[in-house]
Amino acid sequence: MAARNKPSLDTVDEIFSLAVQRFRAARLAYGHGTTNARDEAAFLILETLRLPIDRLDPYLDLRPTAAERARLLTLIDARVSLRLPAPYLVGAAYMHGVRFHADRRALIPRSFIGDMLADGVLPIGDAGRIKHVLDLCTGSGCLAVLAALTFPRAHIDAADLSASALALARRNVASHRLSDRIALHRGDLFVPLRGKRYDLILSNPPYVDARAMAKLPPEYRHEPRLALAAGDDGLDLVRRILAETPRHLTRHGALICEIGRGRARLEAAFPRLPFLWLDTEMSEGEVFWIAGKDLA
Ligand SMILES: C[S@@+](CC[C@H](N)C(=O)[O-])C[C@H]1O[C@@H](n2cnc3c(N)ncnc32)[C@H](O)[C@@H]1O
Repeated sequence: MAARNKPSLDTVDEIFSLAVQRFRAARLAYGHGTTNARDEAAFLILETLRLPIDRLDPYLDLRPTAAERARLLTLIDARVSLRLPAPYLVGAAYMHGVRFHADRRALIPRSFIGDMLADGVLPIGDAGRIKHVLDLCTGSGCLAVLAALTFPRAHIDAADLSASALALARRNVASHRLSDRIALHRGDLFVPLRGKRYDLILSNPPYVDARAMAKLPPEYRHEPRLALAAGDDGLDLVRRILAETPRHLTRHGALICEIGRGRARLEAAFPRLPFLWLDTEMSEGEVFWIAGKDLA
């Protein structure tokens, strides 16, 4: 009897219900583009079927081919058994509808700075004066691409220590046909950028402290450790960025930097710096803005 009541898994709706049920039962961790089982299942299904990723509802009655159904069931299974984040399973992640290739060479794109660029909330005044932008710790290159789309007249430098992350960034830059406006550099923070100055420096550096690293859910352990770990208090990279940034900003330049939950520690370490904390719908006190003149 039980076998007869099993859903046939012919439609997207049935596959979606199965995925949600399995994800909930497995108590997965989210945070790589979605925050719950339903959105995660919808993303996995829509991206695998190459459908627009914003809404599943219009496709619930769709009947995937046998090959598509087999692929979906394999991915649902892998999401649960391997605890791989969905973007690594499907090879893609989205920020504000912009698609990026994603794989284990780099952190999955999700920085709040992306929201700020897309929503135009940065306190930069006349965006037309932004001609030179640096994306420090670029990873997959997602913020460099979003910066190029936000400031169409700017040249972007994007730098990272990881050669494999830069290989993925190169693919993303090429997919968006931005190779003429985004230059990739390999090295330790500002080392490959000696003598260069920028109107805007963006950075989403590693900022996970040692305690949080020890407690990372399995999903996050698939991401490169180099992209996450930042010493005992999570500020190893941010301290160096603050110290070196003044030498790389133009007169009216500014730094925008994501630091996760480290706000109190940062303010305690730099009590005189007038950080401006920028919030989004999804984040509070995780991204600061500081003008170069206040850092010097
Ligand atoms: C949190 S990830 C951010 C990636 C990307 N900006 C994003 O938002 O998805 C941090 C990046 O910093 C890079 N990184 C770590 N240490 C570095 C260093 N000393 N110099 C330059 N890049 C570094 C890592 O390889 C990783 O790609």
